[in-house]
Amino acid sequence: MKRILVTGGAGFIGSHLVKALVKSNHNVLVVDDLSFGKKEFLPLNGSLKFVQLDITNKILLEEIFLQFKPEIVVHLAAIHFIPYCNAHPVETSKVNIIGTRNILDICRNTIPEMVLYASTAAVYPIRDEANDEESEVNPIDIYGITKLAGEDLCKLFYNETGINTVVMRFFNAYGPNETNAHVIPEIVRQLKSGKRKIELGNLAPKRDYIHVKDKAKAIMALMEKVKNGYQVVNIGSGNEYSVSEILRYCEEILKENIEVVSTKERTRKMERKHLLANINKIKNLTGWSPRVEFKAGLRDLLLRVNGN
Ligand SMILES: NC(=O)c1ccc[n+]([C@@H]2O[C@H](COP(=O)([O-])OP(=O)(O)OC[C@H]3O[C@@H](n4cnc5c(N)ncnc54)[C@H](O)[C@@H]3O)[C@@H](O)[C@H]2O)c1
Repeated sequence: MKRILVTGGAGFIGSHLVKALVKSNHNVLVVDDLSFGKKEFLPLNGSLKFVQLDITNKILLEEIFLQFKPEIVVHLAAIHFIPYCNAHPVETSKVNIIGTRNILDICRNTIPEMVLYASTAAVYPIRDEANDEESEVNPIDIYGITKLAGEDLCKLFYNETGINTVVMRFFNAYGPNETNAHVIPEIVRQLKSGKRKIELGNLAPKRDYIHVKDKAKAIMALMEKVKNGYQVVNIGSGNEYSVSEILRYCEEILKENIEVVSTKERTRKMERKHLLANINKIKNLTGWSPRVEFKAGLRDLLLRVNGN
């Protein structure tokens, strides 16, 4: 049993991780300002503790760390919906860079055993092949730039402290309780409202989708298996699907035809055709591999009664 502090723990990925950690009897504290996350995602009736706080407030954040004395810090809090980041570059930089610096600065004093940082596949440039951790990084948007800056801060932190640090490059998560209007929750929302003629953007881009419960298990596997050093690891499924393929699966699951209208407002100006993970490194490091088959995860989302 460990004391684990999760920033952004009331968000999409965080809340699934926190549930799994509580189930494994860890002592968990969530720090989240609820700007995107929701308190109702959290199992707050048990041992789990929650503090509503903005990670850019370093003074209060340090008090929380000093009281809780985390052995493991999982830093997920960030602004990450790309259209929002593009529209709010200063706020995004403040939370994603200054917020990360605050966490790492505080960890210099409170000395946890391990820090895990949520980076992103968006640090990779546009590339048709699978990305491994040695591939060149070169983000194409403000979100990716801020996350790469966070990676650099993690590297500096590790070099200066020697504290076990893991940079997790997340590929696209999907599953229940998604907080941002990404393509899968958007498709599911429109279909669940009864529409069979739905509005979307570009249908060709392929993404590596990983079920959020597999992602939570991957983070836990890293906590258990990575004992020291600085590691950068991709967390994806190793499979990519286009929006058209997702729609075809939805038609099969619902046994109905779906018509799509591609609107200009929903089409991104700069779009990658592919974003695929090579996941050999995390498999070798931890023995973890994704379990939820994509179509089964999609079926669950489309047919579940509660949540989307
Ligand atoms: N969802 C994905 O597919 C994906 C892909 C790549 C990387 N990531 C990264 O994983 C992490 C979690 O993503 P998610 O999908 O759960 O997003 P999310 O928006 O649901 O979670 C982020 C959480 O951080 C909180 N937060 C935001 N600003 C904060 C601040 N200033 N202080 C305290 N809390 C704050 C939000 O309220 C939210 O609960 C993020 O760092 C994100 O960049 C996610």
